[in-house]
Amino acid sequence: MNLFAKSSTSISGEVVCPGDKSISQRALILGSILNEDISIEGFLNGEDPISTANALNAIGSSITVNGTSVSIKKRHIPFKKPTTEVDLGNSGTGMRLMMGLISSLDIEATLIGDESLTKRPMLRMANPLNDMGATISCSEGKPPVKIYPGKVIDNFTYEMPIASAQVKSGIILSALAANKNVTVIEKHPTRNHTERMISHFHGNIESIPYKAGNKIIYSPSKLIPSKSYRVVGDFSSAAFLIVAGLIAKESNIVIKNVGLNPTRCGLIDVLKSMGGSIEIKNEKVISYEEVGDIHVRSSALKGVSISGDVIPNIIDEIPILSIAAAFAEGETSISDAEELRVKESDRLQAISDGLIKINVSHQLYNDGIKITGSSQDIVDSAEIDSHGDHRIAMSFLIASLRSTNGVFVKDCKNIFTSFPHFIEVMKTLGIDVDER
Ligand code: S3P
Repeated sequence: MNLFAKSSTSISGEVVCPGDKSISQRALILGSILNEDISIEGFLNGEDPISTANALNAIGSSITVNGTSVSIKKRHIPFKKPTTEVDLGNSGTGMRLMMGLISSLDIEATLIGDESLTKRPMLRMANPLNDMGATISCSEGKPPVKIYPGKVIDNFTYEMPIASAQVKSGIILSALAANKNVTVIEKHPTRNHTERMISHFHGNIESIPYKAGNKIIYSPSKLIPSKSYRVVGDFSSAAFLIVAGLIAKESNIVIKNVGLNPTRCGLIDVLKSMGGSIEIKNEKVISYEEVGDIHVRSSALKGVSISGDVIPNIIDEIPILSIAAAFAEGETSISDAEELRVKESDRLQAISDGLIKINVSHQLYNDGIKITGSSQDIVDSAEIDSHGDHRIAMSFLIASLRSTNGVFVKDCKNIFTSFPHFIEVMKTLGIDVDER
């Protein structure tokens, strides 16, 4: 699917943020481990969470998805060996979290994914799980991932060499499903939805500040289900709309129900430091997650320099931050972000390739990018390749707000993995995006 976004100068309106992808996937997995009848509301009915739901059903869960509502029924038999390979599609989170869960279930399974997922590193998850007693093999460190019955040990401690919420969560889920104690040390804080959801279900988990990061200690505990779990909106999806509101010539938009967990929304501070007019209203807490409405107005942005601890917090937002940087006066420098090279695409390369097509001057580094922005509009845009990456596709479509002739992006089908109603939401705000 190729998309063309027409140029538009003025956007306005109120939209509701789609459900959080990370939280939706965790709710499916924890809901399946809980093994009681529970429902999930506000679920992201996108391809990634659906891949995770299908994977869980393949090992014996009973999950039914109906729009943004999910019902998980109590299982009367143990988890079972799937009859075929389990396909996690485009979802790195789905694959790594399912590796954690399946590694403790005493069953055999082979996990596969699409072309992009088949290129992504899985040893970061397989190695600590194997040290923990699992038996997992990969193909040159990548999927297919084969999991064999293993015996997870008690009191395993793991200090993560990289900042990864997926790895942290995979280890915790493995210990939780095996009823074992585990400690994970993260050098930099990463998103803590797994820890918060376990607390929400009254599990025994503690996160203690440790050096520059956290020590997370889980002890076996009976989780107590609440009848219904409500998923808050996905900050990473809201980020596209926030930047749209900032760079549009005239704008006044409200994004409702946006998840504001501090381990996720560092982009707000970054954009405010660039001069962005962003206001948060109606703040509350739902299912142990902060949520609020975000009000955005057009702003004259200036460049900024970011590195270090903030990077894991904004890792999924760097593609759209690069678009904000392209229209900000001066230089924006992003470093310590080499993890971007192993996301759904090599995102640093994909950002650079796209910026070349819209004539934005920049310098690409191994661990980041320096973008020289200007308040000038894009006059010509050649075809942009999304590299099959949802966040790259949406980022460059948003750049159309500052173009004279619109922006064409190839291969946008993966937008459905995380933001299935992106086109409708764009239209509600006054941005014309259509298939071409
Ligand atoms: C995620 C963690 C991050 C993020 C990904 C979702 C999660 O990945 O980039 O989109 O749900 O835990 P890493 O854990 O690899 O940093």
